[in-house]
Amino acid sequence: MATIAIYSMKGGVGKTTLAVNLAWAAAVRSKRRILLWDLDGQAAASFILAHDRPAHDEARAVIEKDVAPEKLIVETGVPLLDLLPADASLRTLDTLFDGIDRKKRIRKLTEHLGQRYDHVILDCPPGLGPTSEQVIRGAAIILSPMIPSALSRRAFDEVRQHLLRHHKGGPPLIPLFNMVDRRRAAHRAAVEENPDFPAIPMASAVEQMATRRGAIGAYLPKSPAAVATDALWIAIEKRLAER
Ligand SMILES: Nc1ncnc2c1ncn2[C@@H]1O[C@H](COP(=O)(O)OP(=O)(O)OP(=O)(O)O)[C@@H](O)[C@H]1O
Ligand SMILES: [Mg+2]
Repeated sequence: MATIAIYSMKGGVGKTTLAVNLAWAAAVRSKRRILLWDLDGQAAASFILAHDRPAHDEARAVIEKDVAPEKLIVETGVPLLDLLPADASLRTLDTLFDGIDRKKRIRKLTEHLGQRYDHVILDCPPGLGPTSEQVIRGAAIILSPMIPSALSRRAFDEVRQHLLRHHKGGPPLIPLFNMVDRRRAAHRAAVEENPDFPAIPMASAVEQMATRRGAIGAYLPKSPAAVATDALWIAIEKRLAER
């Protein structure tokens, strides 16, 4: 079992989109048993994958009170893909992690979940604080999407420095470009400077995930963004196998 974190310090770069699409590719293309754990109080991944779920306020209790995660896990309708949903109780997750004396809480929970799943994929909230510390201690690999812009790059470099300084021997931090628009000179330049970064194109088909309620692979499997996500998943599995 490997825990794969989709994380960036920066908001709005496509973490949730990528988490849902990769989870779908892993389950449907590679036939892995996947749990997507939505750690973000915005609950966007939960909305996309399990929108009919009645609203509860107990996601926090899994972390805080030893409520078994199995009690909250729901099926998504996608074979082999389950969801541990988020809700508003996670909006103050940083404060919660700050207050509990368990530095490896996420790690412990994901190890336990690994008995039932091949991989756990974490959709992380933005920020660099107690929640990301837990994620860094729990993940085997961290995928960090960025829009090809100077500010996204800056946020990525800051996280990389943080890992080098405070988490020696920690998980690899893997950058990738998202929302790449090759009509823009800045995007073209960024991609040319980093030809080895995976790149997912900007596509209105991706934006439809919240209204279609599913991964792009489920409704437009041959679109460039879906094909790029499938290729990215294969590269991640290869990387995990080399560990
Ligand atoms: N490749 C893409 N092409 C077009 N739109 C995209 C793409 N990836 C993401 N988006 C859109 O960008 C917006 C932000 O994406 P998303 O919610 O996945 O980002 P996030 O990093 O999870 O944000 P947050 O930090 O708020 O959790 C969404 O409206 C999403 O549909
Ligand atoms: Mg998100």
